[in-house]
Amino acid sequence: MGTVIPSSDAMCRKMTDFIDWEQDKVIVELGAGDGVITKHILSRIAPDAVLFAFEINPDLCKIISKINDPRLILVNADAQTMEQHLNAHGYDHADHIISAIPFLNIPEEITTQILNKSQQILKDQGLFIQMHYAKTITHLYRQVFDEVHIDYVPVNIPPGYVFKCKNLTLKSH
Ligand SMILES: C[S@@+](CC[C@H](N)C(=O)[O-])C[C@H]1O[C@@H](n2cnc3c(N)ncnc32)[C@H](O)[C@@H]1O
Repeated sequence: MGTVIPSSDAMCRKMTDFIDWEQDKVIVELGAGDGVITKHILSRIAPDAVLFAFEINPDLCKIISKINDPRLILVNADAQTMEQHLNAHGYDHADHIISAIPFLNIPEEITTQILNKSQQILKDQGLFIQMHYAKTITHLYRQVFDEVHIDYVPVNIPPGYVFKCKNLTLKSH
């Protein structure tokens, strides 16, 4: 998983404190693990919002599938397939993407592919949020996004960082 202990409440809050819980209706989570951030998001999103949760590990998907919430669309697939799964459900964009994929442990090339796919599917001004335990691959985020802001979250095991990334230029539709 890239970590042994699920994210703390402080980490969950820091990763989601930018969401407009009334206006943002399409949230995507990458690397849902055993669902700690998933549950946090579901406890706050609007009744007519949806949360796509991508998790490649089928055993962890079994755990998440116990969450009984019609707004949750659990996808047992690689984050790279996000666009086709959103489209299949009638969505052409994500308002925000929240990721805990352990990018420090996977090839940079894959990380860049996932960041690019995320950037393409995000709405204008939508945020890509990533949890990390180090800042060593910050340059990969700066290659894809115009603005990368990093917050330190001490109350987590281990303490971590939250990367908030967005593009400043509007996409032409
Ligand atoms: C660090 S865990 C996150 C767990 C949970 N979200 C939390 O914050 O406590 C990272 C998860 O990302 C999943 N993962 C790794 N690569 C992935 C990919 N390409 N697509 C979807 N999930 C992936 C792993 O299986 C793992 O469950």
